[in-house]
Amino acid sequence: MTQAVGIARAHTNIALIKYWGKRDQELFLPMNSSLSLTLDAFYTDTKVIFDDTYTADSFSLNGKEQSEKEIQKISRFLDLFREYIGEGRFARVESLNFVPTAAGLASSASAFAALALASADALKLNMTPQELSTFARRGSGSSTRSLFGGFVQWDMGTGSADSMAYPIDDADWDIGMLVLAVDTKEKKIASRVGMEHTVQTSPFYPAWLETTKEDLSAIKTAILAKDFETLGQITEHNGMKMHATTLSANPPFTYWTADSLLAQEAVRQVREDLHLQVYMTMDAGPNVKVLCRASDMERLVQALSAYLPAEKIIKSLPGPAASILSQEDWQASHQKFSERI
Ligand code: ADP
Ligand code: DP6
Repeated sequence: MTQAVGIARAHTNIALIKYWGKRDQELFLPMNSSLSLTLDAFYTDTKVIFDDTYTADSFSLNGKEQSEKEIQKISRFLDLFREYIGEGRFARVESLNFVPTAAGLASSASAFAALALASADALKLNMTPQELSTFARRGSGSSTRSLFGGFVQWDMGTGSADSMAYPIDDADWDIGMLVLAVDTKEKKIASRVGMEHTVQTSPFYPAWLETTKEDLSAIKTAILAKDFETLGQITEHNGMKMHATTLSANPPFTYWTADSLLAQEAVRQVREDLHLQVYMTMDAGPNVKVLCRASDMERLVQALSAYLPAEKIIKSLPGPAASILSQEDWQASHQKFSERI
């Protein structure tokens, strides 16, 4: 019996300049470059075992064996690695999400970054993190960015080989994010489906693309200058523009719920009352993320608790790059997961 094992952790990331649309579905090439903040509060731990006695791939998530459809997604992803080095063994994948799955909190980003790193470690692939991000991309676009910590850019690239992510700043200048987790159930419209429908039917989509290029350039200048106000204003504007493309798709749709609107209104009210620099963004789900100063987080949580239950407000600081875990780390992770539920 020959066995190759790899274990890795990757944190989720929240896009400040959104990736919204693919120019190539098969290769996961995006229509635009994007930029995100990696979060320390949410992550995925994944173990992969390649073994020549296995007769098929298998996949368990959060201790539950997954459906054939989910296994197929994982198999297709592992095939990229197998084809790259001529590996014939099937694999067992076990994963723990310390983030709600499919709720617009970027579980697919941490998931495929962790699986990519665990696979590369198991198979002893000698790749730079940038190269690895081109593999992660094929599982889920946003996972390119979860291989890195702090503020991260994913370059749309000219083709598959250069559509990759890289870190641009460690975000170690009093940056924080609050997640207003109003609803963590699985969403009805996957990001993949929502973005494709939007690209095909929204008359606003060309304007989204055009202005997003300008937003990216301006937000990078703001990050390098540590200009928090401009960073926040661009973040909020870019997120709202993305959601305007869903409202203008045909038929129209939205990821927002009544609770999302209440949370947004709470942020506006608190911003006005406390005179604090706080800015919102939302992804393909109903939850609201609030970019703020890390040093303001306590005051903000207190103020926002007047509008929504305190247990729905989750604090996060910028998160680190993806990392390899030991067998002991993996056991500790299982222990922690079982204590959570
Ligand atoms: P989210 O907002 O959570 O990123 P998506 O719809 O983009 O939602 O992605 C969720 C999908 O990602 C899940 O349905 C599943 O297919 C995949 N996924 C989530 N977590 C994992 C994991 N730990 N390992 C492998 N795949 C995962
Ligand atoms: C709104 O990366 O989940 O969160 O590449 O099809 O897996 P696929 O999509 P995914 O989409 C993320 C969309 C977003 C914006 C972003 O994270 O940039």
